[in-house]
Amino acid sequence: MKQKTFYQCSECGNKVSKWMGKCSACGEWNTMEEGVTEVAAPAKMPVALRTANDSTAEPISQMELPNYMRSGTGQAELDRVLGGGLVHGSVILIAGEPGIGKSTLLMQISASLAEGSTVLYVSGEESAWQLKYRAKRLGVDQEGIFVLTETNIDKIIAESDRVNPDLIIIDSVQTMYDARLSSTPGSITQVRESCLRMINLAKVHGISVVFVGHVNKEGGIAGPKVLEHMVDAVLYFEGERQHSFRLLRATKNRYGATNEIGVFEMTERGMVEVPNPSEVLLSGRPQGVSGCCAACVMEGSRPLAAEVQSLATASVFPSPKRTVSGIDTNRTFLLLAVLEKRLGLRFSANDIYVNVVGGLRIDEPAADLPQAISLISSIKDKPVDPGVIAFGELGLAGECRAVSGIDLRINEAVRLGFTQILVPHTNKFTVKSKDAKIIPIKSIFEAAKVLF
Ligand code: TYD
Ligand code: MG
Repeated sequence: MKQKTFYQCSECGNKVSKWMGKCSACGEWNTMEEGVTEVAAPAKMPVALRTANDSTAEPISQMELPNYMRSGTGQAELDRVLGGGLVHGSVILIAGEPGIGKSTLLMQISASLAEGSTVLYVSGEESAWQLKYRAKRLGVDQEGIFVLTETNIDKIIAESDRVNPDLIIIDSVQTMYDARLSSTPGSITQVRESCLRMINLAKVHGISVVFVGHVNKEGGIAGPKVLEHMVDAVLYFEGERQHSFRLLRATKNRYGATNEIGVFEMTERGMVEVPNPSEVLLSGRPQGVSGCCAACVMEGSRPLAAEVQSLATASVFPSPKRTVSGIDTNRTFLLLAVLEKRLGLRFSANDIYVNVVGGLRIDEPAADLPQAISLISSIKDKPVDPGVIAFGELGLAGECRAVSGIDLRINEAVRLGFTQILVPHTNKFTVKSKDAKIIPIKSIFEAAKVLF
């Protein structure tokens, strides 16, 4: 079939036949990416997503739901994030920073999934012996695992036809290329086309595919935006390299809830799941030190306790520093403004450091109250009783607003042995505890009055 080259703007999708430095439609620079089209094909884009029978419309009432077959991955925390195991024939993208443990986890799940099936592990980043070395370290040597070090998508497809796997792992999408295109591996066009061809293969033969994706500076997946639309699930592997904790979070999942997280620890022998993360996150809490407050946040359907630490010190800089990790910086700015205005605390002359211990990222407004308490504790240099745990959203007037999952959070706090649980006063709860005092809080003033 005759092939024709085109250029498409990665921002607005404008398609032209000649390359330009600036897109004539949206005016963005350096966004024109090369693509090829087969002239005889009626429409280019969704070829990979078309199946044999989907051009006939069916009444929805008469359609039968497919019975999704799932396989356990051998990692309960991963199964939880996937919604109960890997759906056969699904396409998953796992993204994360280099060194976070993507290849390690995938080698481990290959071992479980290779029991009775065939796994093709394609690496474009490491040599076969590096893969073997990792497998050896992890104690993986199942017969059903095949490794292939290749980046040419045609060769990968040819090997897949020969090996006939049930699961293909592509580590990583950014290294794959389609020789028909002249753009370099890793470019938007190459990543998109390589993925489309793999997805096509997967849909036709019912093979599951796991793509490893690199992240860019901003933490998003490097490559075309459409990548996330093309796959069934997008999982992010997070954590700080200095810490051994890793969180796996689904931002998209066609076969399960998106808000579940899995918690792992990177050990000498690979990723180990952490079934009780709160205990681990709270272990080694400092005693009698100001600026620390325990928080209880919901991660999916699971409550997690973690410690928020703040440090406010007199600034020597013309504009004081604010360094926040594990929490949205804007949320910290907002709380500082509320505390300054409503409680008259002078944060503006201080450098402020805020951190969530253990590398956990909390993006929930329920962390407002514990964060505000830790800030007050630090600036007043008065420690919070270690038996205190708090959750609640704070409004601009300093009022404490209701949050979801109140009973789950209180139960978790009681289970962990906290004795004073500060909760939003408008939340109704049914949990009763003789060991812990549940204290309804109207506002941050009230919290400050109770604690300091
Ligand atoms: P890796 O899986 O290669 O990360 P990614 O594929 O996300 O880039 O793992 C990176 C780090 O993990 C590496 O520095 C070594 C360490 N590691 C362990 O701590 N324990 C292990 O069992 C293995 C295999 C690796
Ligand atoms: Mg890797």
